[in-house]
Amino acid sequence: MAFIINGQKIIDLRSDTITHPTPEMRQAMAQAEVGDDVYGEDPTVNKLEARSAELMGKEAGLFVASGTMGNLVALLVHCGRGDEIILGDQAHTFVYEAGGSAALGGIHPHIIKNQPDGTLLLQDILAAIRGDDVHLPRTRLICLENTHNRCAGSPLSAAYTQSVGELARAHGLKFHIDGARIFNAATALGVPPKELTAPADSITFCLSKALCAPVGSVLCGSREFINEARRARKIVGGGMRQAGVLAAAGLIALEQIVPRLGQDHANAKKLAEGIAAIPGLTVEPVHTNIVYFRLSPQAQLGDEQLIAQLAERHVKLLALGVHRFRAVMHYWIDSDDIDAATIALRDVMRDA
Ligand SMILES: Cc1ncc(COP(=O)(O)O)c(C=O)c1O
Repeated sequence: MAFIINGQKIIDLRSDTITHPTPEMRQAMAQAEVGDDVYGEDPTVNKLEARSAELMGKEAGLFVASGTMGNLVALLVHCGRGDEIILGDQAHTFVYEAGGSAALGGIHPHIIKNQPDGTLLLQDILAAIRGDDVHLPRTRLICLENTHNRCAGSPLSAAYTQSVGELARAHGLKFHIDGARIFNAATALGVPPKELTAPADSITFCLSKALCAPVGSVLCGSREFINEARRARKIVGGGMRQAGVLAAAGLIALEQIVPRLGQDHANAKKLAEGIAAIPGLTVEPVHTNIVYFRLSPQAQLGDEQLIAQLAERHVKLLALGVHRFRAVMHYWIDSDDIDAATIALRDVMRDA
């Protein structure tokens, strides 16, 4: 099922963002009913926003260009200049979103340690909440990430999320979830996504990752919050026009791709088992569609060589950190591709 590029089969495990739209998506995009979404007149966008809000258990949704834009818009609405957000040191919003909330919103990040399972300890959150003192920034928001990308794709449970929500409410704070892969979390935990989002004031999820759509994320929250978010989206240049051609793929993603995410999780476990049997590699526990593994420092080849030699065998992976690699499962990877990728890894390690 892997991509065929210039007649060559490529097993691309770098990320689930590399997914191409499915044939059904391309057809729906071609036939989408559209209108000017800045006027609120695109029926396909309106349908996607309503369906997303329903799935997340919120009053309203807002279609945005990317996960980064969804998180940024949420932070701009929740926080004023000089306000502080509490988030994990491994959070995508902290590490990979170009410091957007500080650059554009004057928002101050207060970083606390992510545990290996992606959680923040409640006592660490409590300790990070500022007192009422003119010298200190004002704590305004707590952010969680579910699943947690850099923490082995771990899903955060409903009970844990609930406890963070209670803590936020007790201290008059807002609570945002970067749920780029919330459907992977829901699949792994066997709960509807709204159980994972109920305690949060806002949630962003991505259509363009394991859900296969070419573009887009949806930010969900109360109607009042989304009205403000619509304005913030305009400020960051995210007011799109006939965006129904993109939203149409998103609707297919919710209908057809969400129910099959369990296959990606099974493929991730299968790959992890294969890697565990290769001398010189150690694999981290796998929870959803993301597999991290490490190369022994005693190995006869370096990180870049491993990536290059796999690429010669038409398998693509990402090096993320010293001797640490990531492989992400998605719609375009099937069980045979996992066999082929495992053989390629075994051969590269054997020939080193
Ligand atoms: C956890 C998480 N949040 C947010 C994003 C940002 O999404 P985008 O690439 O659509 O901006 C990503 C992207 O990989 C992600 O993994």
